[in-house]
Amino acid sequence: MASLFSSITIRGVSFPNRIAVSPLCMYSAIEGMAQPFHFAHLSTFARGKAGLIFTEAIAVEPVGRITPHCLGIWSDAQVEALRPITAFIDEMGCVPAIQLAHAGRKASTAAAFLGGKPLPHDDPQAWQVVGPSAVAAGPGFPVPHELSVEEIQELIHAFASAAERSIEAGFKVIELHGAHGYLVNSFLSPISNLRTDAYGGDIHGRMRFALEITRATRAAVGEDIPLFFRISAVDGGEGGWSMDDSVVLATELGKCGIDVVDCSSGGISGAPRFRADDEGKPLDKNSARMPGFQVPYAERIRNETDLMSMAVGVIVDPHQAEEIIQNGRADFAALGREIMYDPFWPLHAAEKLGVDPDFKMWPKQYGWAVDRRSQIITLNRQS
Ligand SMILES: Cc1cc2nc3c(=O)[nH]c(=O)nc-3n(C[C@H](O)[C@H](O)[C@H](O)COP(=O)(O)O)c2cc1C
Repeated sequence: MASLFSSITIRGVSFPNRIAVSPLCMYSAIEGMAQPFHFAHLSTFARGKAGLIFTEAIAVEPVGRITPHCLGIWSDAQVEALRPITAFIDEMGCVPAIQLAHAGRKASTAAAFLGGKPLPHDDPQAWQVVGPSAVAAGPGFPVPHELSVEEIQELIHAFASAAERSIEAGFKVIELHGAHGYLVNSFLSPISNLRTDAYGGDIHGRMRFALEITRATRAAVGEDIPLFFRISAVDGGEGGWSMDDSVVLATELGKCGIDVVDCSSGGISGAPRFRADDEGKPLDKNSARMPGFQVPYAERIRNETDLMSMAVGVIVDPHQAEEIIQNGRADFAALGREIMYDPFWPLHAAEKLGVDPDFKMWPKQYGWAVDRRSQIITLNRQS
């Protein structure tokens, strides 16, 4: 049995394998509500049998959406719209997971497939963005409103309420989005957080928001729910957040109830993700194309803390994913673009690794017929 297809139990939840669908924004919601597209999108991965299926970043309040067409979970109606999705993922034997997010100073933009730029301030759909300090994410980005301590407390409450709603919607795993330059990440990084109060200053001040959200989320969902936290392991910019900082953060997150650290990188300056060394200095601008370029981050978190980790970033080949899990470099391998290209990647990987020669892992509605197909191909080859 390949390690990639070994099951694992975390708190009250069992995962059938180590393959995760990474959070993938679809920019297709209306008023934050899931649409038939979201059901079709996420249910396909369930038929493909990824063990852990994350939704896209789902905003805890309206101004926390990346675009006007991102999903939200601030209302009961939004919970109802998500319920058929979690029910179907469950029915397929996979684990439905939600990524809770706030886009902070990188909110109010156009969809990635429309260019992803900040909406012009006179666009009727644009809104005032917020952040730890009045520092824009980059050229062309708006200057955020600096959050007051009272507003920070309200946001912590918004994350906890969203976590409660997530459980009502049927999610079994919650991930807090602390990466890619969005709100939580922007509190962590010294590039975007220039505060001098309790939520800024040294690393402990800058971590406070992330840790308070985590504690509030754990208190809201109880002890049976696995909690993941996505980090940008390094900013990739001069003087930014480093891998050593990530180890400190992960250790503190563990004390607040996080089980798994999902290791991504970059995004604080609006720049694309790329590989950086431990001090956060970029290696070269093309390294984000290298297979498994972020695996070393997940490996360090797993080795240097008591937590589990998830690796992500150009994981494309079943043998590559198997090597990551088998050698204990991460506990989960998350796929984004590759699983969009082939939503049945886990089933194809099981076939390639010799784990499922008789197509027993496939949904029963497909497995018997796909097995016949395989026999016909073999017979035709022999004749
Ligand atoms: C279309 C698209 C949407 C994404 N949306 C999110 C998101 O909502 N939240 C997040 O943390 N990362 C998001 N990401 C990043 C992915 O989760 C993943 O970390 C990244 O694509 C690297 O993995 P890959 O090389 O397998 O694609 C997105 C990536 C893509 C391509």
